[in-house]
Amino acid sequence: MVENVVGTLQIPLAIATNFIVNGRDVLVPMAVEEPSVVAAASYGAKLCRSTGGFKVTASSPMMVGQILVVGLTDVELARTQLQQKEQLIVNYANDKHPSLKKRGGGVKSVEPRILDTKRGPMLVVHLHVDVCDSMGANAVTTIAEKVAPFLEQITGGVARMRILSNLCVDRVFTAEAIWTKEELQAASKGLTGEEVVEAVLDASAFAEADEYRACTNNKGVMNGIDSVALATLNDTRAIESGAHCFSSVGGKYGPLTVYEKTEEGHLRGIIRVPLALGTRGGAIQSHPIASVNLKIMGVETGDELGKIMAAVGLSQNFAAVRALVTEGLCRGHMRLHAKNIAMNAGAKGDLVFLIAEIMSEEGNISQQRAAQLLAEHTEPDTDF
Ligand code: MEV
Repeated sequence: MVENVVGTLQIPLAIATNFIVNGRDVLVPMAVEEPSVVAAASYGAKLCRSTGGFKVTASSPMMVGQILVVGLTDVELARTQLQQKEQLIVNYANDKHPSLKKRGGGVKSVEPRILDTKRGPMLVVHLHVDVCDSMGANAVTTIAEKVAPFLEQITGGVARMRILSNLCVDRVFTAEAIWTKEELQAASKGLTGEEVVEAVLDASAFAEADEYRACTNNKGVMNGIDSVALATLNDTRAIESGAHCFSSVGGKYGPLTVYEKTEEGHLRGIIRVPLALGTRGGAIQSHPIASVNLKIMGVETGDELGKIMAAVGLSQNFAAVRALVTEGLCRGHMRLHAKNIAMNAGAKGDLVFLIAEIMSEEGNISQQRAAQLLAEHTEPDTDF
């Protein structure tokens, strides 16, 4: 798959539970090294099961191929020439790359844009491509390379670059879920459901107003999305760059999630996230584990996979924000970490669970306490 290989690096593969996505129960494979991520995603999903889980919609899988055309004496004229020949360019592109067209996709439109750059005005031509169930990077870049000489011929310019854009503002998944105040109250000791709703709304307003918080909020969202992307061998870097750039379209970086109060006083969470992903092509089909993970989710199309990923992103974010505005992160995190600490202290087998449980109940999860408990619960060696 890559060059200069010396080995492989294994990371944990886990299954997130409790997800209902568009009325269907789904088990979600997540590959991630960070403790608490899978537990948090599953917990967020559990707390919205009573309202039917996640409702997710998707736009069509449109990606953009960019062709930068330079060496033009009149960029405005070149733009007009391309606009007039749009249908011709669309047909030319689809003839050169017929496989997408056969699957109902292919180039749908052509958009020449003039950019003001430090080297003067430049013409960049956007090819809007429906990539069907593939991530699209190879297909779009191939099409851009094949179309470029035709654009040179039309404009008299030089096609300097031909590459897909990872910003896919037209390939957006929108998921929403409702967490009732009753569920929120039961989950957050000592607080009323109304208080938890208000607290999450404060956190949401904070993230919308402040890039420092928005960035961390989105890191939490991507904990979930990247883990599913990695489990299915999708390109996590493409998804990350697309999501963060999307978060700043309009000039200000903002959160991918927002929260509002429903008329009944419950909490509604909404995520809008672009996802360039696939269920075909690249490493996905050639890797047995990626294929098995798609099967576990029961998905075949990119659309189905993206809907699950968007739901996981929202669930992950909700669970983190709920914890942050109530008991804080460390308690839950340390609880999950207690077993590692017990093992580090030398505990084995059932003792790991026992020591972890005692430390969690005492609220004292530390190496020192684990060592004490281990000594207390280990039979003295009487075999002289
Ligand atoms: C940690 O990996 C992610 C969080 O920081 C996300 C957040 O603050 O919303 C918990």
